[in-house]
Amino acid sequence: MAFYRLVQTHQLYDGFRCVVKAGRVELLVLHHQGQTHIVDNRCPHQGFPLDRGAIKGERLFCPRHGFGFHLTRGDCFQASSCTLPIYVSAYDGQWLGVEL
Ligand code: FES
Repeated sequence: MAFYRLVQTHQLYDGFRCVVKAGRVELLVLHHQGQTHIVDNRCPHQGFPLDRGAIKGERLFCPRHGFGFHLTRGDCFQASSCTLPIYVSAYDGQWLGVEL
């Protein structure tokens, strides 16, 4: 496993979003209601980018067809076979990252 730096923790604020490559994976980092979430930026339905998706409650909605994914579980109530990959946050000093 390798640690990939994504953003420095002081950059985070409510509403923060950024897309960062970690190895071959394109990740979306979101800070929402005091929580940081790291999810795959590709919708598991048909691969549409999720970085412009709306957040309602604890769900991120894909702009393409409107499927909503839970930010901490990744599940989707519109299609149980579509699960958004969720990544666990890791830290190295002031850096937030992931281990892949
Ligand atoms: S591509 Fe995201 S819901 Fe269809």
